[in-house]
Amino acid sequence: MDNAVILAGGQGKRMKADMPKPLFRVLGEPMLEWVIGACEGADIKNLCVVKGYMGEMIDEYLGGRYETVLQAERLGTGHAVMQAIPFLQKNTDGNTLVLCGDAPFIDSRTISDSLEMHKKGGNAVTVITAELDNPFGYGRIIRTENGISSIVEEKDATPEQKMIKEINSGAYWFRTADLIESLGLLTTDNSQGEYYLTDTIYILLEKGKKADAFKSENPNVVLGANDRKGLLMLNKTAREDIISRHLENGVEFTCTDGITIGRDVVIGAGTQILSGTVLSGKTVIGTDCVIGPDCIIENSTVGNGTKLNYVQCYESRIDNNVKIGPFVQVRPGSHIKDGVKIGDFVEVKNSVIGEETAVAHLTYVGDSDVGGCVNFGCGVVTVNYDGEKKSRCTIEDNAFIGCNTNLIAPVKVGKGAYTAAGSTITKDVPADALAIERGETRTVEGYAARKLRNRKKK
Ligand code: UD1
Ligand code: CA
Repeated sequence: MDNAVILAGGQGKRMKADMPKPLFRVLGEPMLEWVIGACEGADIKNLCVVKGYMGEMIDEYLGGRYETVLQAERLGTGHAVMQAIPFLQKNTDGNTLVLCGDAPFIDSRTISDSLEMHKKGGNAVTVITAELDNPFGYGRIIRTENGISSIVEEKDATPEQKMIKEINSGAYWFRTADLIESLGLLTTDNSQGEYYLTDTIYILLEKGKKADAFKSENPNVVLGANDRKGLLMLNKTAREDIISRHLENGVEFTCTDGITIGRDVVIGAGTQILSGTVLSGKTVIGTDCVIGPDCIIENSTVGNGTKLNYVQCYESRIDNNVKIGPFVQVRPGSHIKDGVKIGDFVEVKNSVIGEETAVAHLTYVGDSDVGGCVNFGCGVVTVNYDGEKKSRCTIEDNAFIGCNTNLIAPVKVGKGAYTAAGSTITKDVPADALAIERGETRTVEGYAARKLRNRKKK
């Protein structure tokens, strides 16, 4: 089986926050999560994360999903991987991918393609490289006729070597047994006095094994951030990459101002995304929708032909040809079915709204099961919480809920039934009935004139 070791010991001092660097976020997700996602996407699931600075935060974030080991002292990339030797020894028959937890843009394709090359070539190590216009600071790749001979760090490079533009991304495939063996032979004999992981290359070559380099078509695989500005650049790069992928898929953007789309979001062709819209998590949006301006959609599924305008929607499902907004919040656990219309200042929570139902304005529907073709007047409230427990309301098909009705849960309004405006409904309403719970109108004739006279006297 193949392994991956992710180096996540960095501190990120210049970020000016006490947190391990790989936990800083790009498009709302820790860089470490991007790297883990790339491994999982390439079907590499046997992961070990090497933690260092504030390692307990890494454990807390991972919540036991993957194994971690601690590098207590920062003695170089080779030393970091050494900490994972007990993990590697459990699985020595396959290959091991080494990655940096703070280089978020490594992609599954690069991982799979480089593994294929690594295996086909019978290599002991395959370095994932990229070509950069400005290679300053990175390890340079020294190519030979049939592979590579070494990686030379900036600080150890001759002026000619510094001209080389192919650089070490910091990601590698090793044959696991060869990695373990070569780690044992590393020394600190270099300008920085560190255990360089890159020295494994000449160690393996000296043993007569093969080392080669896989040049990624994605130059962003090397990108990382040392400070907040760098992190903002990573966000910008990720944002633009994702938007351009959606453009290729037929999604329409008239501008990209304030639009942020998470890397796992799926959007159908012909859908228009308007300014200020943030789509995140496992959100899926169908075809021919208009989403925005200023929508926030998290972990939700939206059907086809739906229009959302100033809507916030969390962990919910909105079906086809629905129209919602402006200024509507759909809270978790809701399912809005085909053809529903929801107007301004409405909140829906943990409720089903049946087909063609209209909730025009200023209404709260919480913990309710609403049928189809129901009409909500303005200002309806489902009173779902009595201060101790929550209860559900049931509103059946074709019911008509008058303006300013309070439905005190648990309560049911039967099929086609009406509630009179201003009623507070505490008992079930049978089908086709009208429920009124309010005082009769009392008219006091001449009241205003009397009042005026009294005031004049004073
Ligand atoms: C390393 C490579 C260099 C490559 C570059 C890509 C070596 C000797 N050099 O450079 O060829 O171009 O990465 O970014 O490997 N880390 C630890 N513990 C340590 C040292 C580092 O966990 O003791 C982690 C860092 O947090 C980071 C990664 O290893 O995630 C790379 O370390 P960094 O110091 O950024 O890279 P260099 O050693 O400069
Ligand atoms: Ca009201």
